[in-house]
Amino acid sequence: MSHITDQHNRIIDYMRISITDRCNLRCIYCMPSDGVKTIKHAEILSYEEIIRIVRIAADLGVRKIRITGGEPLMRKNLLYLISSLSEISGIEDLSLTTNGHLLKQYARQLALAGLKRVNISLDSLDPQRYKEITRGGDINLVLSGIQEAQNWGLLPIKINMVPVRGFNDAEIENFARLSIITPYHIRFIEFMPIGAKEFWNNDRYIPTDEIKHRVSSIAPLMPISFKKSGPANYFSFENAKGAIGFISPVSDHFCISCNRLRLTAEGKIRPCLFSETEIDIKSAMRSGATDGEIRRLLILSAEIKPSGHNMNEDKISKHLRPISQIGG
Ligand code: 5AD
Ligand code: SF4
Repeated sequence: MSHITDQHNRIIDYMRISITDRCNLRCIYCMPSDGVKTIKHAEILSYEEIIRIVRIAADLGVRKIRITGGEPLMRKNLLYLISSLSEISGIEDLSLTTNGHLLKQYARQLALAGLKRVNISLDSLDPQRYKEITRGGDINLVLSGIQEAQNWGLLPIKINMVPVRGFNDAEIENFARLSIITPYHIRFIEFMPIGAKEFWNNDRYIPTDEIKHRVSSIAPLMPISFKKSGPANYFSFENAKGAIGFISPVSDHFCISCNRLRLTAEGKIRPCLFSETEIDIKSAMRSGATDGEIRRLLILSAEIKPSGHNMNEDKISKHLRPISQIGG
């Protein structure tokens, strides 16, 4: 079976695809307060273009696809894309990251279309605070969406929480406790210095060590390992139904095991989240590139994947666009 290996012996078998830069929320740490310019519809990859790229990528050994945004459930006719991607031979894992607002409405159809599972971003369990952090979100929609996803077998349910000091860090323990009574994987993601640049500062950033210390004050954490855990380090409390994951893009770079390429909504392959280098696959396609040429562009994207990034809490990537534009 063919596979793409990059210059640093990493096997690239995972593609994250942003299908829209639009979002129905405006999370304070993700979007600048004055908003972001959105891409014109004609500049967004069509579903046919995405399907073609995935077909070629699958042929090259990509096995895992995650649909992201912006908010992917905002894009029209998403079920068509999901069912088309789920039928591509070689694609073993098809998942989606969402803020959950439209999940109750779509969970059943997504599951029937072949989606395997969902990650849900949820940064507070308090309705008022949730509303503030997301600038207008409704936590009840998210909670009923999570329930519906669980009912339709979009498992395991992973909840992503970004602790930001002074905003939601008082809830770290409550989130951790959720993993005792629910089968959810609660994942704490370090706040990264990208997106809402005016919002980032060192004091708001909380390193995994500190988060973990607070979580383990509840009860001892036991390391567990999942077959394909990606960058998360997983633990659980004794007799817990769920698990706790820590993702440390700032304090503990996981570049050495990075197996992914990103496809942005406007059709560029981005080998690394933290590098502005991109390959314009859309222009190539729209000017008549053959499958063989697209294949070579994908191989090239892997070849130029940097060995790592040097972002840390002191080095702010000022030039980086919000995650809603790059794909979370
Ligand atoms: N730091 C950490 N996570 C972020 N996300 C968006 N912006 C940031 C940031 N600056 C996360 C969201 C969501 C996913 C799409 O990306 O919380 O889980
Ligand atoms: Fe919030 Fe995600 Fe939307 Fe950014 S893309 S505003 S993190 S819901």
